[in-house]
Amino acid sequence: MINCAIIGYGYWGPNLVRNFSATPNATVKLVADLRQERLNLVKKNYPTVEVTTDIDSIWSDNSIDAVIIATPVFTHFELAQKALNSGKHVLLEKPMTDTVAHALELIDLANAKGKVLMVDHTFLYTSSVQKMKSLIDNGDIGKVKYFDSTRINLGLIQQDVNVLWDLAPHDISILDYLMPEKPHSVQATGVSHIHNGIENIAYLTVNYSSDFIAHFSCSWSSTVKIRTMLLGGDKKMVVFNDMEPTEKIKIYDTAHTVSSDEEKQRVLVDYRVGDVYIPKLEIKEALGGMAKDFMDAIEKGTTPLASWKSGLNTIRILEAAQISIKEKGREVVLS
Ligand SMILES: NC(=O)c1ccc[n+]([C@@H]2O[C@H](COP(=O)([O-])OP(=O)(O)OC[C@H]3O[C@@H](n4cnc5c(N)ncnc54)[C@H](O)[C@@H]3O)[C@@H](O)[C@H]2O)c1
Repeated sequence: MINCAIIGYGYWGPNLVRNFSATPNATVKLVADLRQERLNLVKKNYPTVEVTTDIDSIWSDNSIDAVIIATPVFTHFELAQKALNSGKHVLLEKPMTDTVAHALELIDLANAKGKVLMVDHTFLYTSSVQKMKSLIDNGDIGKVKYFDSTRINLGLIQQDVNVLWDLAPHDISILDYLMPEKPHSVQATGVSHIHNGIENIAYLTVNYSSDFIAHFSCSWSSTVKIRTMLLGGDKKMVVFNDMEPTEKIKIYDTAHTVSSDEEKQRVLVDYRVGDVYIPKLEIKEALGGMAKDFMDAIEKGTTPLASWKSGLNTIRILEAAQISIKEKGREVVLS
């Protein structure tokens, strides 16, 4: 059994405690939070789990093998650094860290210590994203041309990160998982209606050397909640609507082909409109799959789906997007 400590029992922490408690090779030994009232809730729901507000006591506790960090992003680096330095495996909530430099430092440290460093990119473990991956890999939708994601709602306005850092890690990590091609550059714009420099609406475009393009729309200011992703190939298009209870994925057997008519010196576009197919997806909680992946990486040495690479690639795009927003949408080339 792998003994886990979960730090942070706010909004997301309870989902982690529930899922790690249900993971066969994991034991939730300890939950830590700075707020005693949150720990009282842990005690009520999980009487055998230890609790503490003394976060530093975790580092010297040799019975803890792994630390799961579900605190605000600006605390991720320091907590993960302390956990790795004390020889513990680390799972960080998304986004991995607040800067690329911090992510790289943690990756070096995890490698030096021989410990697993993983990021909770929950969506990679959903049946919908797994289906999209297989549709691409099997060639079913043809050559992928575009990815267009909308994640908007009346969201909780964060005080430390803008809407892209809060909402886009999910979609960027999905893009990173689906597309083997490395992104070339980003352009982003955004606005802060609170006038505190933290954008509550933002639009991000990720450019590639090929003719593939990806676009993200994120907002905390929309009264309607939309969670939609379009994935267009030259054979078919996939729509992932996460607001649908069961029919989350629809595959449109519709596309257009382009040819040129040299005699008349013009481009010809042929449209083919076919059926719409709704695949049956397995109903499972993605977080359970993520928890198992972390435990397997520790126990069996497997590479998790949401590895530090996924975390780093996501942060690289977010950091470049931040620069682009502050420079009015300038194209920022990714190193
Ligand atoms: N994977 C997902 O789908 C998902 C969903 C929501 C949030 N998250 C991520 O989870 C993390 C936490 O988000 P949240 O919405 O639960 O935040 P939250 O503010 O609701 O909860 C954070 C908790 O951490 C505690 N905390 C803060 N600093 C701490 C410290 N230094 N040591 C110990 N405890 C500390 C706070 O008291 C609070 O209870 C963020 O990184 C967020 O992006 C992930």
